Amino acid sequence: MCGIVGYVGPKATLDVLLGGLRRLEYRGYDSAGVSVIGAHGLETRKKAGKLDNLVAEIAAHPMSESHIGIGHTRWATHGAPTDGNAHPHLGGPTQKLSLIHNGIIENFAELKAELLAEGAKFASETDSEVAAHLIAREYEATGDLPTAFANVVNRLHGAFTILVIHEDQPDVVMAARRNAPLVIGLGEGENFLGSDVAAFVEFTKRAISVGQDQIVILRADSVEVRTFDGHPVTPEEFTVDWDASAASKGGWSSFMAKEIADQPQAVADTLMGRIDSDGLVRLTEVEGLDLGLVMNLDRLIIVACGTAAYAGDIAKYAIEKWARIPVSVELSHEFRYRDPIITPNTLVVAISQSGETMDTLMATRYAKEKGAKVLAICNTQGATLARESDAVIYTHAGPEVAVASTKALTAQITAGYLLALLLGQMRQSLPAAELMALGQELLKMPARVTRVIEELEPAKELGREFANAKSVLFLGRNVGFPVAMEGALKLKELAYIHAEGFAAGELKHGPIALIEEGQPVIVIVPSPREADSLQPKVISNIQEIRARGAKVIAIAEEGDTQVEAYSEHVLWIPQSQSIFSPILAVIPLQAFAMELSTAKGLDVDQPRNLAKSVTVE
Ligand code: M6R
Repeated sequence: MCGIVGYVGPKATLDVLLGGLRRLEYRGYDSAGVSVIGAHGLETRKKAGKLDNLVAEIAAHPMSESHIGIGHTRWATHGAPTDGNAHPHLGGPTQKLSLIHNGIIENFAELKAELLAEGAKFASETDSEVAAHLIAREYEATGDLPTAFANVVNRLHGAFTILVIHEDQPDVVMAARRNAPLVIGLGEGENFLGSDVAAFVEFTKRAISVGQDQIVILRADSVEVRTFDGHPVTPEEFTVDWDASAASKGGWSSFMAKEIADQPQAVADTLMGRIDSDGLVRLTEVEGLDLGLVMNLDRLIIVACGTAAYAGDIAKYAIEKWARIPVSVELSHEFRYRDPIITPNTLVVAISQSGETMDTLMATRYAKEKGAKVLAICNTQGATLARESDAVIYTHAGPEVAVASTKALTAQITAGYLLALLLGQMRQSLPAAELMALGQELLKMPARVTRVIEELEPAKELGREFANAKSVLFLGRNVGFPVAMEGALKLKELAYIHAEGFAAGELKHGPIALIEEGQPVIVIVPSPREADSLQPKVISNIQEIRARGAKVIAIAEEGDTQVEAYSEHVLWIPQSQSIFSPILAVIPLQAFAMELSTAKGLDVDQPRNLAKSVTVE
């Protein structure tokens, strides 16, 4: 939520800021704004709506050349998405200070009352403007920006990344971080700040992740990090492995279309170097976890939100089957509010693409407080979740820009299989040969994903055909159930229509009442080739809904000779063991939702009301 970028150095600052905001726009797109300090002092432009509105505003009212500045793209919390509430906010009567903020200042009301009593004038309804006035006032009193900045951030409660520049100090960007993301990009004679590395990956791969309750004093030739109480910090540098081109559309109609097509690579990269040719999983990352714990685990709890939680549901099937550990999957925001049972032998696995989802961070902090070890499955280097966990399995999906998660999901599912196999190996819960055969099967998935991607046109055609549908239902069993849930989420999120995923076996317990003449139902049909296949049961479910007028679209495995007779349309996926099929079956659903949304004239990359990274609870 909210994208933040800061720059100091010789480049044309406005270009750096707008380029960074373009790459961070997925974090929020209600409004955008920039401030720079140039020959005429502090200049600010801001505009409600998408970044293009700001670009047009700057074209109409050009800004001076500058070598320092800050930029913001907003997902509104306090105050509607208007020009006035857009960031930056100016502070103090002289309006020489400019501030941008991501997060929520929880004690803003009392701080605002204090400022109002002194006669401060507010130009917005935001909580953020309070911080701008406080820092400006403190600077007037102390004459020292770092001191003024530290004094104020120490008074703020809640979650915030704050960046500030001041006309009287045109060589420094101040930044602070509490419970919201902030990374530094290190350049030669220039430095950057961003909500994530996408903000500056075009210019530098050297980065520092700013820790909790830390302040950054950023100049062109120096970076100083201190704690909120003034102690110097020696931060650890890391190398960004994302490619700048991966964060651009590169000729595709949308980021989502590109990211769907990126999936063979995302799955292959997530597997790379982690399974040897015999099928043995080697995940050195997990060595941070105590072996004794792994051997004695009594349960594993997966915490995640949205699509990442469906990846968790799929991991549950694999972990329970191969490692024989009881797994529960919990929505992060529900988890800690119900006094969950956590023993010293509980492992919490947190799944998050961004690694900044506040609900998931709070769930993992809670679990750690209760004594659990936390293993993260995360796509973003330097993210808070990765820093705060005992061990991390990175997914290597590259930057995911479209709000709807696609390649991050298939990479998360892949990481879940790796973890399940590793736990199985360590605990010897299945014969080694069986586990290795599964590992070899997993290695075949990138090629199968490629085939699905090459054959997406029928799914897209159906998306166009159903553009006027008012409701679409999704059914699945076993690992097909989370796939059905994900198909429904994609459609809600992208096409704004009613969509629900059900366990096919649950139909007769209520949902079948929804079926009426012409109701589109997408059914994930399991492979018929396995001894304990659930395919016959799903075919029965299809017959039940067809008898009541449903129009059935089946996602089925090639070679399933029965399914065509029972469905209006079949979207074929390559053969694989059932447990691995979600990686394949989910992709036509992504393409279906994307195309249906596009046919309705909607923006698939930036659906209404959403933001990519949900950094508030
Ligand atoms: O960054 P995270 O993986 O923690 O995000 C979790 C959810 O917010 C995310 O998966 C969301 O549901 C997607 N927009 C779905 O497409």
